[in-house]
Amino acid sequence: IFFFSLSLFSNEISVIPKPLKMDIKNGSFNVNTKTKITCNDKKLIHITDFLNDFLRENYDLRLDQKISKKTGKQEISFILDNSSEKESYTLHISQNSIVVRGGESGLFYGLQTLLQLMPLEKSPSVTLPQVEIQDKPRFKYRGAMLDVGRYFYTPDEVKKFIDLMAHYKLNTFHWHLTEDAGWRIEIKKYPLLTKIGAWRRGTQSSHPAESFDRLPHGGFYTQAQIKDIVSYAEKRNITIIPEIDMPGHTLAVLAACPEISCTGGPFKVLEAWGVQKDVMCAGNEQTYKFIEDVLDELLEMFPSQIIHIGGDEAPKERWKECPKCQEKISIENLKNEAGLQSYFVKRVGSYLQSKGRKMLGWDEIMEGGLAENAMVMSWRGEESGIEAAKMHHEVVMAPTAFMYLDYYQGDHETEPVNFNVNLPLEKVYSYEPLSSRIPVENYKYIIGVQGNIWTEYIHNYSKIEYMAFPRLLAVAEIGWSDAEKDFDDFSKRLSNNLNWLDKKGVNFRIPDVAYSTTAIANTGDFDLVMQPSVKEANIYYTLNGDDPMLKGTLYHSPIRIIFEDNNPVQLKYIVRTRTGRVSGTRVLNFDK
Ligand code: ACM
Ligand code: ZN
Repeated sequence: IFFFSLSLFSNEISVIPKPLKMDIKNGSFNVNTKTKITCNDKKLIHITDFLNDFLRENYDLRLDQKISKKTGKQEISFILDNSSEKESYTLHISQNSIVVRGGESGLFYGLQTLLQLMPLEKSPSVTLPQVEIQDKPRFKYRGAMLDVGRYFYTPDEVKKFIDLMAHYKLNTFHWHLTEDAGWRIEIKKYPLLTKIGAWRRGTQSSHPAESFDRLPHGGFYTQAQIKDIVSYAEKRNITIIPEIDMPGHTLAVLAACPEISCTGGPFKVLEAWGVQKDVMCAGNEQTYKFIEDVLDELLEMFPSQIIHIGGDEAPKERWKECPKCQEKISIENLKNEAGLQSYFVKRVGSYLQSKGRKMLGWDEIMEGGLAENAMVMSWRGEESGIEAAKMHHEVVMAPTAFMYLDYYQGDHETEPVNFNVNLPLEKVYSYEPLSSRIPVENYKYIIGVQGNIWTEYIHNYSKIEYMAFPRLLAVAEIGWSDAEKDFDDFSKRLSNNLNWLDKKGVNFRIPDVAYSTTAIANTGDFDLVMQPSVKEANIYYTLNGDDPMLKGTLYHSPIRIIFEDNNPVQLKYIVRTRTGRVSGTRVLNFDK
């Protein structure tokens, strides 16, 4: 339950993720045509350009930029300080100037904070509150994963997603590029991977509400497109970690290259969902040759230190019956198929290591023994992550119960078709990556968190935004902020941010409203105060069961809730944003 103070700078409290220290002063700085943007190093031009682009897009302002070692009046200055931690920054806004100081990434984050302090509209000037901020992240890994295997999203859509990540100081985009249902990356040595593996004839969803979709689906990124997106992300301080999932989730590979399966096939690109029995043959030397060839091209495209090799959900049935796999188990003196999985993962990991890279995998890579130096992404709960941290391996926490943003986020009846588990915003926000079950001396191995967006039920990019936002802002705050968690305070800041995302045309899910009640003495009745979950949005409601979209009354003051004959009262409402976007119908039930 929360209320807004009507201050001139309502944005002043709305930075997400919440900065470490913030001191708000009286007074303001006006950005106008006379303001100059400076930086002390030409390495920072992408930052000053970024600010200028933002000012032009939002306020039709274009400012002069120059390189200067000094800060000055009427200047917005970015000062690279090599003694500063890489991701930390300070931001001082005074009446005369704005100065951002920090490490190279920190300056970009200082800029993002500055942008979040800017008004939604120029009215009549671009006025910023005087403030002193000192800030740095809690975790070094703050990620989001996008599954482009089940459904393909265009390069421009991926860039839009990266823009949104950057605005909230997320720094790692985990790009899940391959699936049973589609291979999405051009590999020049194996053209069939995209010629065959990137396309399916239709889609049989596992959801009862979705019938067979006879539309062929597919697509892939060319190497040139990938390089372009990698450099686009780099300018926004985002490292892209590519994932080539193996040995499971590889039906699209096997459709193109059946010779690296256990049975020889034939196979077709998956047209449904679920874990597949057919996986890469771990006993065939050709498989390893294939993987190394693919990785060679991948490493050319992705400078990331960390490379994700999947490793999840690889059933062992085929390996049990495959002479090659059994022979490998025997030659290598492995215990069983779990040992073979471990052998496979270790072999791929040491190949990456020989190229100066580091392997990250889903927590199944621990089965049969974890490879030296491997990093673990803990998704089936936290146990594997805790185990790996105790073994001094770096861990990214992404447990399903908190971090799977493909789960639905409200009333199952009215939310769009989704994976059938509920994960509301508040629960995401409540996640604490440093579990009390981790010995304190091993905390340092938990390098961060990640929100995952699997796309079995996400047919288009607009729904990606619906699933990711606002929950990804909660992930961003968990990853960045060291402050005490306070969901009401977060919701307050969120409401301003959602107004901004609304202006940007982002299809976020409009959160439920916050409300409070005041009892009417001795009657059991009460007054209901509602607060829209998006700043400047309106609430329309009904109390007689009618559809609030068609018949709703505009909420403007507390609603008296009266229990006639002691009957329960049902209030239905919708929230309508400034741009006219409307939430689904939400329901509040009250009993006397
Ligand atoms: C996963 O969700 N299969 C990693
Ligand atoms: Zn085999």
